[in-house]
Amino acid sequence: MRLVISAFCLLVLFSYAAAYDPLDPNGNVTIKWDVMSWTPDGYVAVVTINNFQTFRHIMNPGWTLGWSWAKKEVIWSMVGAQTTEQGDCSKFKGNVPHCCKKTPTVVDLLPGVPYNQQFTNCCKGGVVEAWGQDPSAAVSAFQLSVGQAGTSNKTVKLPKNFTLQAPGPGYTCGPAKIVPSTIFLTPDKRRKTQALMTWNVTCTYSQFLARKNPSCCVSLSTFYNETITPCPSCACGCQNKKNCVKSDSKLLSLVGVHTPQKDNEPLLQCTHHMCPIRVHWHVKLNYKDYWRVKIAITNFNYRMNYSLWTLAVQHPNLNNVTQVFSFDYKPVNPYGSINDTGMFYGMKYYNDLLMEAGPRGNVQSDVLLKKDKDTFTFKQGWAFPRKVYFNGDECMMPPPDSYPFLPNSARVNLPTFPAFIFSLLFRLAIW
Ligand SMILES: *[C@@H]1O[C@H](CO)[C@@H](O)[C@H](O)[C@H]1NC(C)=O
Ligand SMILES: *[C@@H]1O[C@H](CO)[C@@H](O)[C@H](O)[C@H]1NC(C)=O
Ligand SMILES: *[C@@H]1O[C@H](CO)[C@@H](O)[C@H](O)[C@H]1NC(C)=O
Ligand SMILES: *[C@@H]1O[C@H](CO)[C@@H](O)[C@H](O)[C@H]1NC(C)=O
Ligand SMILES: *[C@@H]1O[C@H](CO)[C@@H](O)[C@H](O)[C@H]1NC(C)=O
Ligand SMILES: *[C@@H]1O[C@H](CO)[C@@H](O)[C@H](O)[C@H]1NC(C)=O
Ligand SMILES: *[C@@H]1O[C@H](CO)[C@@H](O)[C@H](O)[C@H]1NC(C)=O
Ligand SMILES: *[C@@H]1O[C@H](CO)[C@@H](O)[C@H](O)[C@H]1NC(C)=O
Repeated sequence: MRLVISAFCLLVLFSYAAAYDPLDPNGNVTIKWDVMSWTPDGYVAVVTINNFQTFRHIMNPGWTLGWSWAKKEVIWSMVGAQTTEQGDCSKFKGNVPHCCKKTPTVVDLLPGVPYNQQFTNCCKGGVVEAWGQDPSAAVSAFQLSVGQAGTSNKTVKLPKNFTLQAPGPGYTCGPAKIVPSTIFLTPDKRRKTQALMTWNVTCTYSQFLARKNPSCCVSLSTFYNETITPCPSCACGCQNKKNCVKSDSKLLSLVGVHTPQKDNEPLLQCTHHMCPIRVHWHVKLNYKDYWRVKIAITNFNYRMNYSLWTLAVQHPNLNNVTQVFSFDYKPVNPYGSINDTGMFYGMKYYNDLLMEAGPRGNVQSDVLLKKDKDTFTFKQGWAFPRKVYFNGDECMMPPPDSYPFLPNSARVNLPTFPAFIFSLLFRLAIW
């Protein structure tokens, strides 16, 4: 048994390290460079960042893209983004480049920059929506003019060692690969043009690399049992406990406490779970053909407004969602046939902003599900979600033996073991 458990743990670790996400197996961020023209000493390229992840967006404070030049390239100018440092350009007289660093670090511009610094899909402070939320907003782009570089597709050297912080760690990028040149359609769709050369870089996310603790937890309750199953204690690690703030603390009225920090360091409300986010799943009503769940998301971070938040949930009955009252909803179908996963997100201008901790720091909605007579049951925790992800990070569930259960139902302990083996087999099968 011990062997099986350690094998299972290893498998989990390994699947994390390989950046494999069972709910979004094909998700990635692609960085595409299109060379638009060759110049006397280099080229002009358009760099496009596409977020192909179903439910993981790039949130505040946005992406930071880095790479290493293969030779002595410099960036003469940039439109729609900027490097964070210019570096040492002292050997240039007259025309001084935008950046002379060997490893430039690029960030998006903020909204509202002057028109002549803008570029299509730029200037959103590095925030990029998830593909499942809005494919047209899952993109960010800028243009740069590279000097001291190759001036043809035979002499150009591809940049190396791409890094993407989106924001913070978690993404691993592969090498740049030359791909068939992008074809562009003019706005009136009457003419096609073509990039002179195109290369792609693919980056994938791993929660394991991003942080050592979860960043959210799940609590459960039902109409048929008054027990509220709380989030597990220290679900998100208790190392911040000494810095947490009680919800009635006078500190909270001080100016500046709610200001986001440069390093995105949270200021958490003191809770036993110490998570910035709690997702509560309440089994609310039972009708003849339907049942109703209430989902509430609570923010415990005083320093963060979550814009464009997403909640991905796996539950066998999500194949038959009848109505979602106050969130937008989209089914996610990672394996074609089993559509037991869905994505909830805020309605634009209504609740797509989950406010900082406090009286307004929560969003909620009811979900009406149609019962499938063959599988529906309130027994053995069937009515609770199997997996919950907030903003693309998996939330910690309470242990199954603490779930509220149906009164008078004989507890069957037997299924735990086969269920464990089954999940092991399932992981192996999809791996
Ligand atoms: C990146 O994601 C897209 C969309 O899911 C997929 O078509 C493509 O194959 C992925 N690329 C890699 C290298 O995995
Ligand atoms: C390169 O990236 C673009 C998106 O930026 C994608 O549409 C295209 O399929 C990618 N090409 C390859 C060969 O992966
Ligand atoms: C380089 O450009 C030439 C034409 O200028 C073209 O025939 C060739 O296929 C290109 N090579 C690559 C790798 O794009
Ligand atoms: C890329 O990164 C590797 C390991 O971090 C390093 O050894 C190598 O020198 C880097 N390459 C360039 C061109 O900076
Ligand atoms: C969150 O948004 C509200 C309203 O826009 C603003 O007053 C507050 O300062 C923001 N909080 C943070 C931490 O950014
Ligand atoms: C689940 O998948 C089936 C078949 O692929 C489809 O007909 C059905 O509409 C899907 N359900 C939802 C809620 O998307
Ligand atoms: C949803 O429920 C209806 C009615 O029970 C059923 O006919 C249909 O097959 C269900 N859809 C799925 C995808 O299970
Ligand atoms: C509610 O569920 C808890 C387990 O979480 C159990 O201990 C308790 O007996 C249940 N209450 C009733 C009335 O069955």
